[in-house]
Amino acid sequence: MIPREELLSLAREVALQAHCPYSHFRVGAAVVADGRIYVGVNVEISSYGLTLCAERSALAAAIAAGEVAGSITQVALACIDAQQDAPIQDRTPCGACRQWLADLAPHAIIYVDGDSRDFTIEELLPYAFAYQAESV
Ligand code: THU
Repeated sequence: MIPREELLSLAREVALQAHCPYSHFRVGAAVVADGRIYVGVNVEISSYGLTLCAERSALAAAIAAGEVAGSITQVALACIDAQQDAPIQDRTPCGACRQWLADLAPHAIIYVDGDSRDFTIEELLPYAFAYQAESV
């Protein structure tokens, strides 16, 4: 296990690389798979709906490196531009990212910078869609 604070610190550090010229809301994510760490940031696109969140960016990096779905054990998320006293809802993963986490990191412990709890995806997205089409 990577220490919680170490992973959150890495998520905060990578958030500095976020590409967010529209919202100016920098987000960083760090995921651990088999002890290896992958990072991601939010990437905003001029056609706003195409924006990629930090969590999906980090999960895609892990998959691209050959990690298999389910091997991800920890996820850390940092919204470095959230107000210090902002509610947790200003810092938790969006709905789309929760579905990605449910599919790709179902066993992960999820850390949210600024909150001392360890979350599971079941807590963040109960009854997540999980249909698997049978291969033919
Ligand atoms: N954002 C993330 O990167 N992750 C989330 O889970 C929530 C939102 C980004 C998207 C956008 O670039 C900015 O935060 C403001 O919504």
